[in-house]
Amino acid sequence: MKMKNLSLLLLTLTLLFISVCSQVQQTQFVYRWPETYCEKATPTVACTKIPLQFTLVGFWGTDSSGGIQQGCQDTGTYDWAKVFTTETVNKLTAFWPSLSTQDPTEMWKAAWTTYGTCLISKFKTPTQYFNRAIRLSDAIGGGNLLQGQLIGKDGIVPCDSATYTNAEILKSLTAVTTVNNQKEKKVSFTCNSINSTHAYLNQVTFCYTNNAQYYTDCPTTVISKRCNVPNIIVPRPPTPTARASSLQDLLTGEKIGPNVLWETLGQLF
Ligand SMILES: *[C@@H]1O[C@H](CO)[C@@H](O)[C@H](O)[C@H]1NC(C)=O
Repeated sequence: MKMKNLSLLLLTLTLLFISVCSQVQQTQFVYRWPETYCEKATPTVACTKIPLQFTLVGFWGTDSSGGIQQGCQDTGTYDWAKVFTTETVNKLTAFWPSLSTQDPTEMWKAAWTTYGTCLISKFKTPTQYFNRAIRLSDAIGGGNLLQGQLIGKDGIVPCDSATYTNAEILKSLTAVTTVNNQKEKKVSFTCNSINSTHAYLNQVTFCYTNNAQYYTDCPTTVISKRCNVPNIIVPRPPTPTARASSLQDLLTGEKIGPNVLWETLGQLF
């Protein structure tokens, strides 16, 4: 009898523990500013391209202490060709490109395996997970955080010689969360330090309810890491190689149409 009670107790405790541990408290959508990630980090990261836009680092669940949930069990097998349709690939590439030589589909698969599987109670399949990521991205600055919010609404332009105050960056990013007249929610952003007064904008974190539906305040563990240097630079990536190749086309007289010419001139000035 005693033995039975003990094992019952253990079983109850185990179940309790499992349910507490696997509880998704919030979800997070984390962007990076590629120029900072690729060029302003030590050691630097070898990037094959540095887009002039925020790109996704990850979409994951966090537990009650703000820890990222990863490496959950996934027993499903998926037809990845069906998951990554041309439409999905195009949409994901727009905000979640690979910055290295890594095949983006491998990167996305790894994101599902590492983080998506821990959200399986909310998103049953990789397709549901990626569709939600697309939906969240579409809602942030109309699908382009830089153009739609920072530049478009607040005049925060990536430029190595421009500095913005901590409050200006925070206000701009926080404004994203006021969609549908919602009260603003706490967001976070980190920097790569230059010196005691200046730093480069690095990552931006938006936090959501556990079903990734609504913005919610990021937890204190995340807010406490927020960049608090007074002067923030959003560094501008070097000229994309597209410019060089269209310049070359211009010089060699190939593929020249009025559009190419205007585009080239537009990039030059
Ligand atoms: C800190 O770095 C910024 C940007 O490079 C520079 O303009 C500034 O003079 C530096 N300040 C100090 C105290 O070194």
